Amino acid sequence: MKNQTRRFSLQKACALEVSLFTGALLVFAGEPTLPAQQTGMTHTQAVARAKQIVAKMTLDEKITELHGIHDATGYRMVPGVPRLGIPALHMTNGPAGVGPGGASPQPPATAMPAPIALAATWDPDLAHEYGKIEGEESRSLGSELFESPDINIARVPQGGRVFESFGEDPYLDGRIAVAAIEGVQNTGIMANVKHYLANNQESDRKSIEEEISERALREIYMPAFEASIKEGHSASLMCAYPRVNGAFNCENAPLLKGVLKQEWGFDGFVLSDWGATHSTVPSALNGLDLEMPTGVYFGDALRKAVDAGQVPVADLDEMLVRRFAKMMEFGDFGSQPKPEPIPAFEHGAIARRIASQGIVLLKNDNSLLPLDAKSIKTITVIGPYAVRPNTGGGGSSHVIPLYTITPYDGLMAKLGLQIHVTVLDGSDIQAAADAAKRSQMAIVMVGDQDSEGRDQSLELPAAQNQLVEAVAKANPKTIVVVKTGSAILMPWIDDVPAVLEAWYPGEEDGNAVASVLVGDVNPSGKLPLTFPRSVDQTLAANPEQYPGVDGAVHYSEGLDVGYRGYAAHSVTPLFPFGYGLSYTQFSFSDLKILQQSGGASATASFTVTNTGQRAGAEVAQLYLGFPSIAEGNEPPVQLKGFRKVMLNPGESKTVELKLDARAFSYWSVKAHAWQVAPGEFQVLVGDSSADTPLKSTVTMQ
Ligand code: BGC
Repeated sequence: MKNQTRRFSLQKACALEVSLFTGALLVFAGEPTLPAQQTGMTHTQAVARAKQIVAKMTLDEKITELHGIHDATGYRMVPGVPRLGIPALHMTNGPAGVGPGGASPQPPATAMPAPIALAATWDPDLAHEYGKIEGEESRSLGSELFESPDINIARVPQGGRVFESFGEDPYLDGRIAVAAIEGVQNTGIMANVKHYLANNQESDRKSIEEEISERALREIYMPAFEASIKEGHSASLMCAYPRVNGAFNCENAPLLKGVLKQEWGFDGFVLSDWGATHSTVPSALNGLDLEMPTGVYFGDALRKAVDAGQVPVADLDEMLVRRFAKMMEFGDFGSQPKPEPIPAFEHGAIARRIASQGIVLLKNDNSLLPLDAKSIKTITVIGPYAVRPNTGGGGSSHVIPLYTITPYDGLMAKLGLQIHVTVLDGSDIQAAADAAKRSQMAIVMVGDQDSEGRDQSLELPAAQNQLVEAVAKANPKTIVVVKTGSAILMPWIDDVPAVLEAWYPGEEDGNAVASVLVGDVNPSGKLPLTFPRSVDQTLAANPEQYPGVDGAVHYSEGLDVGYRGYAAHSVTPLFPFGYGLSYTQFSFSDLKILQQSGGASATASFTVTNTGQRAGAEVAQLYLGFPSIAEGNEPPVQLKGFRKVMLNPGESKTVELKLDARAFSYWSVKAHAWQVAPGEFQVLVGDSSADTPLKSTVTMQ
């Protein structure tokens, strides 16, 4: 009782705070009511009920329910049919927080750390919390569906939406995605996993033809979608802009009807990315259920196609039943709970925790970090992202924060007034270098603003590389904090002793980064994508692979995506996938493999020990190396399990990771099925894809 009262008054206080910040702001949210699944309606019951309603609809009503509309309040919506009790469906964008729902002006919400930062935590529990905040805030802003998560594979670090993604590995991607979807959906909001399939670059995204082998589709680009459907039970899915193997995604029968709906048993509905529908008849026949944002193809044109006998009414009925049944399961056909204000600081505190857990310590010579506040008197903090927080990337995921914490405020809150902190934006490089020289230490905060709609260079924008170099030359105790949406090149890496990758930390930037700099948080983030040493190390070395030639991009690397490719070609990147340091040290020992008799599965157990002086978390990672396969070999290392373990100094814990048959399988193009690869597997355990001190083998029949 006491707790409830406290929460209530806290929410009230936050709501007040929010309206002070933003004027006459109408933000509603807060504690969700019962998760919609607790409406108790099973899918079968919902389908039966939806069928009854659809049977009463006129053809015109059906057509209006198959596409979105533009209206005064925002264009992410499908109107209802009050006569039949069909409610409107409102959608809000993700995945980096809530808000860009088309309403004008856009209402503020919690600007979460970028999804790539969430992936860098390697912590599904945090992904669940992340999704939960987003679900609650979706309801606050009046939506029933949240367009998230974006689980496209970061095939090229140049991708403009890498910051929205969970990185380059399908297994990590799937684990984070399932937890994030559950987090959203447990609040009673429908998730919308996107963009199916292979929306892996922004260059020519709306027209590009992607040629991808069946095996690469199955092993690299599909697994996180498969997990999102089969384990995460995502209520809906967004089909993507590009074409895959000859057909646009939103009319791609093998992908939508074949794999998604028939094979994986997806029982939700497919909506098109905004403007990703390209036809009426093929889209209607091949698996699209809802055209967004308006009815260019599923409005009058669909009506005509039905009249002409090109699209059976039964197909329209199925599309409608899919959507209505899901909405019923989520409680959307019942009376709606009153939206409550977003508890800004409660959610902000969770956003801060996730942001700090996602920060990756890339370099720390002579243990320069954490800062020793007692021995420092002067620090100069320099750079474009020293004077403002990096709250997120651009495009449809851009959130207007409820409040922000600047780098300066974050640092001052941690360091206290006895330390003299000078802040410069770095636009005058000479002045920055001079100031750095006069200080005991310099912290350079560099970064970028990646955005949907365009890919990016791997170089830091403007003169930020020169800035880092000049400051590092002026003061050998220079720490670089990088706030980028993806991997970047670091031509100055050998000239600076310490580097943190903080991604886009979101509205709590200042606090999250400062907590790691001073050691309140011991960094435990690990890279969810490889950082290349040069552009030549990426697929951009061959324009046919990226960004494409004559309107087509050839995924000729096959399975060799990300670290798989680096390992296959023995190329050493700047920082490998899975890498990240800590302020303490860990060791791994005692790898044992227990093979279950009769089945193609095994359990690996091993010990992780904190051998250093501070408490900290290590992400233990298990990779498999496959035996040779007649149809073509697998890449040399592939992530198949991981666990984040918190350890006090001197403490050891035993970690058990279960490997199921899928872990030992490859996609056979001959059989069009998963097959366990017979032979001896290497089992590799360690703290990155390139550092696996524990090695063993296991043999599958
Ligand atoms: C993006 C989607 C987004 C949609 C609606 C598109 O540009 O690709 O991810 O959900 O816009 O804003």
